[in-house]
Amino acid sequence: MKLTIIGTGYVGLVTGTCFAEVGHQVICVDNNEEKIKTLKAGHMPIYEPGLEELVKKNVAAGRLSFTSSTKEGVEKSDVIFIAVPTPPQPDGSVDLSFMEGVSREIAQAMTSYKIVVDKSTVPVNTGKKVAETIKRYCKAKVDVDVISNPEFLREGFAVDDFMKPDRVVIGVASQRPVAAMKEVYAPYNAPIIVTDINSAELIKHAANSFLALKISYINAVSVICEASGANVMEVANGMGMDRRIGRQFLDASLGFGGSCFPKDLSAFINISEQLGYNFGLLKEVQRINAEQMDRFVKKILETMWVLKNKKLGVLGLAFKQNTDDVRMSPAIDLCLRLQKEGAILRVHDPKAMEKAKAVLQNVTYVEDMNAVAEGCDALIVATEWPVFKKLDVERARKAMTHPIMFDGRNMFDVDEMEKIGFIYKSIGR
Ligand code: UGA
Repeated sequence: MKLTIIGTGYVGLVTGTCFAEVGHQVICVDNNEEKIKTLKAGHMPIYEPGLEELVKKNVAAGRLSFTSSTKEGVEKSDVIFIAVPTPPQPDGSVDLSFMEGVSREIAQAMTSYKIVVDKSTVPVNTGKKVAETIKRYCKAKVDVDVISNPEFLREGFAVDDFMKPDRVVIGVASQRPVAAMKEVYAPYNAPIIVTDINSAELIKHAANSFLALKISYINAVSVICEASGANVMEVANGMGMDRRIGRQFLDASLGFGGSCFPKDLSAFINISEQLGYNFGLLKEVQRINAEQMDRFVKKILETMWVLKNKKLGVLGLAFKQNTDDVRMSPAIDLCLRLQKEGAILRVHDPKAMEKAKAVLQNVTYVEDMNAVAEGCDALIVATEWPVFKKLDVERARKAMTHPIMFDGRNMFDVDEMEKIGFIYKSIGR
């Protein structure tokens, strides 16, 4: 099928590439000319495992192309996907100006029937507004079907998640576009749920908020584990073996971050309030998440007493493993708080150091993770990069003035670290 994706961020670029990979003819549009130039030159604006190879392969096969012209994208395709940012506003509501702007651009470029699909995460009732806007601004008086098709991919696993989705959700106002959408997704062999637009939009906010709730729940349990001498990893394993609960998203941590959970929680609370419901449960999820970081900083302060002029090594800057994304990263938040206390930081991340430089200055960026500990009073693990498990802890211990480790992601074994000679403090154990 002929598909256009408007917006080449983490979701748009992965979506377009993975559609091309299964044989569709795809045009990716972005109004950022620099980004389009970068992509045309065969370079990636983001790091996502496996993406670069797939982009190159599909461009070479003639199935994937890039343009900054929305008009071209709309004219040449039957189905137009919108994957533009929907950033948070200070009051927690969502800024939908990109959605509105793109809706108008699509309308102005339309000369025949199109299916317009919203892939961006949006508050319930947005699809209706997009449909109204397109109908209002379309001069050609042609028909349009607006669909909600939320995306569930995780950064760091995006290609895999897209190629093997648990489910595909399609929210429609009529049956007319359903066959075409089923054809778009047929190659992925995933269950397809066809529902109304508002339910589809709510599925996304409800799912992300539930996952965030799961993390806050285990983080709250981790506090009880610490107070009672239990081990949160044992508790999570035991809980997770109940298939009704599941083990995923039960990793206690210094809190969740990223461009999705914090924003989507605020947005869901905000839209619920507008609809007359005080979603107190989700406010508590936010509170526990913030408190988890406070507790981690307190743990560091209690052990180190004063941080002024102490040298701390920090492993991890990205908001999670396998990504270079530092938006709303708990690791960056932690670094800034430690700097405020006067600490001198040596930091490392396998992929996120370039992006971190824009938000974290006056630190030493260290290329080799095994060199971070040199001369440090303590070492901190802030992101769950699997490679950190391979840290040469013996070398780190010898290189440090004091072998103390604060592990915000429970990457190491408590007994082993203590045997090596570390004062080792983690989460909920
Ligand atoms: C999340 C959802 O998982 C995706 O399904 C969704 O499509 C995406 O948001 C989105 O709305 O676009 P993402 O933000 O990429 O994906 O990353 P996650 O893997 O969900 O991790 C989010 C945060 O939770 C990270 O900071 C991570 O470190 C933290 N986390 C995750 C924990 O602290 N504990 C866990 O057990 C799992």
